[in-house]
Amino acid sequence: KIYTDYFYDEADFDKNHGMGYKPLTIPEGVTAQPLAVPPVLQADKVEGNDVWFTIESQEGESQILPGAKTKTWGYNAPLLGQTMVVKKGQRVHVKLKNSLPVLTTYHWHGMEVPGPYEDGSCHAPVYPGETKEISFTVNQPAALTWLHAHPCPSTAMQVWMGLAMGVVVTDDNESRLPIPKNYGVDEFPIILQDRTFHEENQLDYKKDYDPMGIFAETPMINGVVKPYVDVTTQKVRLLYLGGSNRREWRLHFDDDLVMTQIAGDDSFLEHPVKMTKVLVGPGERLQVIVDFSGYKEGDVVNLYTDDFKLVEFRIHKFEQDDSKLPFKLFTPDDRPVNPNAPIRKITMDNHDKINGMRYAMERIDMIQELNSVEYWDVTNTNPKSHGMLHPFHIHGAHFLVVSRNGHTPNPNEVGVYKDTIEVAPQETVRLKVYFPQVGVFMYHCHIIEHEDAGMMAQIQIVDPKDPDRKYHLMDMETI
Ligand code: C2O
Ligand code: CU
Ligand code: CU
Repeated sequence: KIYTDYFYDEADFDKNHGMGYKPLTIPEGVTAQPLAVPPVLQADKVEGNDVWFTIESQEGESQILPGAKTKTWGYNAPLLGQTMVVKKGQRVHVKLKNSLPVLTTYHWHGMEVPGPYEDGSCHAPVYPGETKEISFTVNQPAALTWLHAHPCPSTAMQVWMGLAMGVVVTDDNESRLPIPKNYGVDEFPIILQDRTFHEENQLDYKKDYDPMGIFAETPMINGVVKPYVDVTTQKVRLLYLGGSNRREWRLHFDDDLVMTQIAGDDSFLEHPVKMTKVLVGPGERLQVIVDFSGYKEGDVVNLYTDDFKLVEFRIHKFEQDDSKLPFKLFTPDDRPVNPNAPIRKITMDNHDKINGMRYAMERIDMIQELNSVEYWDVTNTNPKSHGMLHPFHIHGAHFLVVSRNGHTPNPNEVGVYKDTIEVAPQETVRLKVYFPQVGVFMYHCHIIEHEDAGMMAQIQIVDPKDPDRKYHLMDMETI
């Protein structure tokens, strides 16, 4: 079966309810550029099972548009960053260096690391000029996760300036699968963002600020405005990362070329799902394989969002590839729900509240036991008439999607670990959530302006063997 719709109600799409929506444009004079592929971050040292990295937040200048360079921020790069690759089972040590003029944090979105310090939430500031070191063990399946800044309440501005990069987890299951895995040749990260460029090609977060979430005018894929990809193999694997503050990406190819989804946020899918359209919301990741066997040298196949051309795939000569995807890609560990736990009710209200309240750094909103699998019913209380999709995200947890308004979830969210999920107005999504690490973790809407405005709360995960463990939480004044 090939799915041909976006699985969501069109009326709820960002483009259909006003509220600051901007259609995309390409500024005049921009010519096609090769897609930038973030280089793989080199380790400082590897010793047996241990690996050491340094990640430096820095200011820089990037040639994004013709003419003046744009002032941007990045990790070990002027804009965005490099791709960090870690393997399941590895012990990872990271030096977090802040060379920015402001404080920042390093949040591992999708990584199962203890909170709130290693996790890099607002409780883990690194001040200008400082270096901190964290360590964690990778104990999760292969996936594309990501690192981004998370200082409250300026997460949105810092991500806007460029602080976001991919963190790839690999494992033995992935190495066994017959899928493209030659990074930069037949496997490409596609970081989907939009930015508005003002005078002298500069970003201006304050000018663009919109509490409902910022739409920008120009698409930027891996930091490139009008990218093309040279296709030299029959099959190409694309790692989509919804990296925009607000914008949803509704992706599809020329000729309704089929995308076979193989992975979601935090794992492979149990079974591949074929589709011609897919929606990627802020914070979500999704991996697809496209098969260009129907094309020949010289052809050009475009990737679109709605009807706007995003990426051009230029077909070169390639060798025939008869490899077949197995039906079974991954087996999620679907453990039974704790029968003693109540069903948790979480509401996303307006554009700035969770359960009727704005985020407070010193307030713990919920407590859950380590490794206890529990139902979370997450509701978007926006009215159908003028609401929007809110992408709900949990730190430090992977969840399985149980149902949407009591019905089966979308086909591409079955049998896969996720950490971010779109919830439509008046919809309740039931999740099975457990936390494999202790600490204090945020859960929030991943429209980053909503998160900064207060559509965020926090949960403390308690180990019954060490119930009195205390965490030092920051407050808005000291930060
Ligand atoms: Cu990607 Cu709390 O975020
Ligand atoms: Cu996160
Ligand atoms: Cu929201």
